[in-house]
Amino acid sequence: MRRKIIAANWKMNMTLNESDSYLDTFLLEVAEEKRVDIVLVPPFTTLARVSERLNKIQNVKLGAQNMHWEMGGAFTGEISAPMIRELFARYVIVGHSERRALFGETDEIVNRKARAAHEASLKPIVCIGETLAERDADKVEQVLETQLRGSLAGLDAKTLTDTVLAYEPVWAIGTGRTATPGQAQAAHAFIRKVLAEISDTATAEKVRIQYGGSVKPGNTAELMSQPDIDGALVGGASLVARDFAEIIKITAAL
Ligand code: PGA
Repeated sequence: MRRKIIAANWKMNMTLNESDSYLDTFLLEVAEEKRVDIVLVPPFTTLARVSERLNKIQNVKLGAQNMHWEMGGAFTGEISAPMIRELFARYVIVGHSERRALFGETDEIVNRKARAAHEASLKPIVCIGETLAERDADKVEQVLETQLRGSLAGLDAKTLTDTVLAYEPVWAIGTGRTATPGQAQAAHAFIRKVLAEISDTATAEKVRIQYGGSVKPGNTAELMSQPDIDGALVGGASLVARDFAEIIKITAAL
């Protein structure tokens, strides 16, 4: 059985004060919740503060939204995996569609980041997903397969097992338009099939695949009860502590 993993991608939101008051509410809400993995992914500026607040909290883990693939050096404005690991983060999102679309990240760059994350003992959350034009042109499987093979190149079975995938159809991100549970399940099953080809069936069965794109309390149960959906990467709804806690509780109770 794959343990579900629910992550909050705060994106470029949350000041120190805002994240403090968020945590005041959120940590009380989920204090007893041990049935799913919970991950908070704040912006870099609040990572250290959130890390301190999670210090004695066992059931909520920390992640970063991006990283550079080099371990250090002359890369102005960038953050390395060891810097993130030093703050006790366990996860790092790589290849989010906003980074692919707005910052030119290719599968090759995503792959370098995923490998560097593993080298620093961070678990990458590797994002993939098609645009609306690609879906309309019936290219979903082709796009997903290319992204998977490119982004995961060279990862062995062990590192693949420690990699989380996030299927996020670009047309569903921040749009209020969610993939239907059937559409999402079909994509997730396809992703698992490609994983089995890249690696082997046993490994593919172990890899957790999150769904992302307008997840909110109202659509959580339907999406999270699909057999190949192993959690959620939540943007907008994760900015409201009670809504994000609700998504976690609904998933845990399934
Ligand atoms: P959304 O974002 O929940 O606001 O659609 C999801 C994501 O981009 O990870």
